[in-house]
Amino acid sequence: MTAHLKMAELHCHIEGAASPALALQMARKYNVDVSGIIRDGTYVWEDFSRFLTCYDAVAELFRTEEDYALLAETYLTELADAGTIYSEIIVSPDHGNTIGIGSDAYIAGLAAGIEAARAKTGIEGRMIITIIRHLGPSAAEHTALYAARRTHPLVTGFNLAGDERLFSVADFARAFDIPRDSGLGLTIHAGEMAGAFSVRDALDHVRPSRISHGVRAIEDDDLVRRIADEGVVLETCPGSNVSLQVFPDFTAHPLRALHAAGCRVTLNSDDPPFFHTSLRQEYEIASQVMDFSDEQIDGMTRTAIEAAFIDEATRARLLASL
Ligand code: ADE
Ligand code: ZN
Repeated sequence: MTAHLKMAELHCHIEGAASPALALQMARKYNVDVSGIIRDGTYVWEDFSRFLTCYDAVAELFRTEEDYALLAETYLTELADAGTIYSEIIVSPDHGNTIGIGSDAYIAGLAAGIEAARAKTGIEGRMIITIIRHLGPSAAEHTALYAARRTHPLVTGFNLAGDERLFSVADFARAFDIPRDSGLGLTIHAGEMAGAFSVRDALDHVRPSRISHGVRAIEDDDLVRRIADEGVVLETCPGSNVSLQVFPDFTAHPLRALHAAGCRVTLNSDDPPFFHTSLRQEYEIASQVMDFSDEQIDGMTRTAIEAAFIDEATRARLLASL
């Protein structure tokens, strides 16, 4: 059992954290038929492409600043109640534009939710703005310019999510130059739906301090050594990987091998209700199925705080609380 261990998370897409119950509440509010995406209280999707479609449909159920505040407050309060001291949520201003409220209101709503959860529970939260790969490089550069304006102090990082099978990392290199110059922390989805080459491209073209997933680096020994040598932090999400069939089961998952090779790894939930997981469950799997000791798991939590996109005073306070 890991219930006595504090937790920290670097990788959770906020719309992917909406429980089916909350999504249904929104669907009732806006009179939307969700029978195609929620059945028997669970999200319905069959493969990665349909997961992304389902994700977008859920995102479109949240339509106002207040809806986004409720979503962030609900998720972070739940995390805090489960023993989490820090969470970075991945946010997509493009969704704010899709639903018509615009990026600023979308970010303001999420920030209000983060602040409300902190006031109630003490959990620290930050936002990572993501660009969406399947929307293409030019939309990405537009969003990057928005991120670089640093319109809210709780926005501290920048990511690339979406369909890794489309475009190449080099196509987004310019989009990453913009937030890098403005001082945002950089991480990038790679080595999830595409192989080791994608992780190598990410390191070469983006020079991030962290990789979102990165687990398929395991296909290339030299690359694993490079990740370990350079101290790049991997935001691993084993439950997501098994659910999306990146690996057939937890015993085939490379987290243990990456850890043994000296890579800096962390535990994350990605889109928890979509993958029937939670951050606590990821910790439990690491302990019970992958056989990591409490000390090793605590080390991953420490790594997450060390690699977090936060100011140094907050980092020191969080590290001291572990
Ligand atoms: N967006 C939400 N979840 C994602 C994932 N697991 N991979 C890529 N993009 C995503
Ligand atoms: Zn992700």
